[in-house]
Amino acid sequence: MEKPFKKVFIKTFGCQMNVYDSGRMADIMAGLGYEKTDNPEEADVIIINTCHIREKASDKVFSELGRYTPFKKQNPNLIIVVAGCVVQAFADEFLARAKGVDIALGPQCYHLLGQKLLEVGAQRGIRVVEADFPTESKFDFLPKHTDCAAVSFLAIQEGCDRFCSYCVVPYTRGAEYSRPFADVVAEAKDMVAKGAKEIVLLGQNVNAWHGEDENGKASSLDKLIYALAKIEGLYRIRFVTSYPSDMTDELIEAFGKEPKLMPYLHLPIQSGSDKVLKAMNRRYTVQEYSKIIEKLRAVRADIAISSDFIVGFAGENEDDFNNTLKLLDKVRFASSFSFKYSPRAGTVGAAMKGQVPEDIKGERLTVLQAKLQEHQLSFNKNCLGKELDVLIEGKGSKAGEFVGHSPYMQTVIVPFDEDIVGRIVKVKITKAALNNLVGEAV
Ligand code: 5AD
Ligand code: SF4
Repeated sequence: MEKPFKKVFIKTFGCQMNVYDSGRMADIMAGLGYEKTDNPEEADVIIINTCHIREKASDKVFSELGRYTPFKKQNPNLIIVVAGCVVQAFADEFLARAKGVDIALGPQCYHLLGQKLLEVGAQRGIRVVEADFPTESKFDFLPKHTDCAAVSFLAIQEGCDRFCSYCVVPYTRGAEYSRPFADVVAEAKDMVAKGAKEIVLLGQNVNAWHGEDENGKASSLDKLIYALAKIEGLYRIRFVTSYPSDMTDELIEAFGKEPKLMPYLHLPIQSGSDKVLKAMNRRYTVQEYSKIIEKLRAVRADIAISSDFIVGFAGENEDDFNNTLKLLDKVRFASSFSFKYSPRAGTVGAAMKGQVPEDIKGERLTVLQAKLQEHQLSFNKNCLGKELDVLIEGKGSKAGEFVGHSPYMQTVIVPFDEDIVGRIVKVKITKAALNNLVGEAV
């Protein structure tokens, strides 16, 4: 008997932009009559959305393929799609490297998913790669959202022209592009109508967003935030990821003026050494970064600052690393991501002299993470006894428990005797651990 619905399994690696892209691919698939499944073995289409940022992430696509391609023995009609930055990085060579893949789509091409599925369906055995940077924007071709989670992502800007010397993003995601003001507001309204209560604006350089307004002039992120805040039913706004030099005074002031803009900012510094920042082609100094933090705290004293760090970039010595530790003590980040430098083929950093041995990178990462965790725990402990607004996003792992995020982006667990998903609940914090808070609804 014919199955009533075809099924699609989607596995996502990497950043929130990939999570957004996977969501949009699910919307395309829904339009083609595919429902999502968590079980790859029963899928008619498997989509792996890949990340190329570090070697470890990039290698995963090949181990994933090793898991899924054998399913073709039981289900010869299975179509395997690989999407995202790994495809872009290898472009035309991708299919030679990745056996068993039917369709490979770069991150600017996933709006072609439906069309490519039809092509492969019509002519089984034809493998397709699409990894162009088309002149038209994929955003103009995407369907409306089917439904939206309480916290939903909205891509407003993509690509990057900054060329930090360690980073593949300018090569895999292409040149910086800002979506027009009106398009973003329309998508946000659609998302709120479909259940979104919090919108996280996404972009590789989100605070450099400069979409055209109705007069054809470049707008700015602070203006967009004020416009979005007017949408009824939208309670919270955040944006990631920001570049320090693009933190304008107007945007900083928005944290003091707009209550729907949450007191949380992810502002990667990468290193606390000016010498290393220069080698990384990051265009700010440690002092300039510290000044931005000072200004943010002047308008919103309780703001949670988070960051990304790379240890062991080419040329980093003990003094440089100690400067990073000093910066940590000065800023006291509420949370952070930290990585060992992973030289990526084709980037300027990979060819630099003074590459740091892996064991030293490992030692530095351990020291850095211990300090970051100490500060994160103390930020969380500082919330004990406080009442925080928590947007409940889903059920917890235990029965009767719900999970959401505080304004400061901490995960909060709350027991409750009725379904409160999608509601903002005031929670008195009773326990604070490194990775979550626990509290009681008041
Ligand atoms: N090696 C290690 N970390 C990297 N990142 C980006 N490229 C690399 C690399 N080659 C980190 C940066 C960035 C985050 C998304 O990933 O810290 O902010
Ligand atoms: Fe990569 Fe730098 Fe662009 Fe961020 S700003 S995406 S780290 S090149």
